[in-house]
Amino acid sequence: MFLNKKKNRTPRNIPGHIAIIMDGNGRWAKNKGLPRSFGHSAGAKKFKEIARYCNKIGVKYLTVYAFSTENWKRPQDEIDGIMNLLRDYLKDSTNFKGENIKLRFIGNRSALPEDIRTLMENSESESDDATGMTACLALNYGGRDEITNAIQRIVSDKISADEINEELISSYLYTWEYPDPDLIIRPSGEYRLSNFLVWQSAYSEFYFDNVLWPDFSVKDLDKAIDEFNRRNRRFGGV
Ligand code: IPE
Ligand code: IPE
Ligand code: MG
Repeated sequence: MFLNKKKNRTPRNIPGHIAIIMDGNGRWAKNKGLPRSFGHSAGAKKFKEIARYCNKIGVKYLTVYAFSTENWKRPQDEIDGIMNLLRDYLKDSTNFKGENIKLRFIGNRSALPEDIRTLMENSESESDDATGMTACLALNYGGRDEITNAIQRIVSDKISADEINEELISSYLYTWEYPDPDLIIRPSGEYRLSNFLVWQSAYSEFYFDNVLWPDFSVKDLDKAIDEFNRRNRRFGGV
């Protein structure tokens, strides 16, 4: 619970799990006459700021879409730039140090460069004891890839048809240890999921914003949370 700055100070319901599609870096850079890589670097800084704020207000899980299984279609130099940014980010020992944030990753790691995979494992184990928010980065993540991968493992584990139910499928997803997202935010004026959390978003609330990700502020996040508080989640009931 967090209090609104309104006179009546109504308690605000903080979504337990917020997921963000960090989109619009390229257009942000282009608008400024800069190369797209500047947008990615501004976007990475923005992630840290928003993650810190989420932890402060009591969000339990923050999942951010950083690189999709489709993003390999981009020019090689842009991909290399994003991978270098990721390297620098993971090597930066000041990331969330002492902030009690648990860092996790979802996605297909096998296609990522080996040194990055090692850095990812290190940051996971370094933040193992954190008891605050879990910040989960979706890297080489695709919802369809995730479901395909789950089915392959269900078959290779020789699970019989009558044992397969929604709970079992969820337990085979990259997100097996997290609750489904309550609120999915997409800035940048696009109104689609782009293969993000396809299974998990079945009952999520969606919030779209025209702001480009590097310009997305804590005020914009607050607006999204206020809007979430006005929604009536029925989950099929009345
Ligand atoms: C999101 O920003 C970052 C990644 C997909 C890696 P974009 O790079 O998609 O930015 P736009 O959509 O082209 O502006
Ligand atoms: C989604 O953005 C992926 C990330 C933000 C990492 P894209 O920019 O790749 O999505 P599309 O191509 O506009 O659907
Ligand atoms: Mg985009």
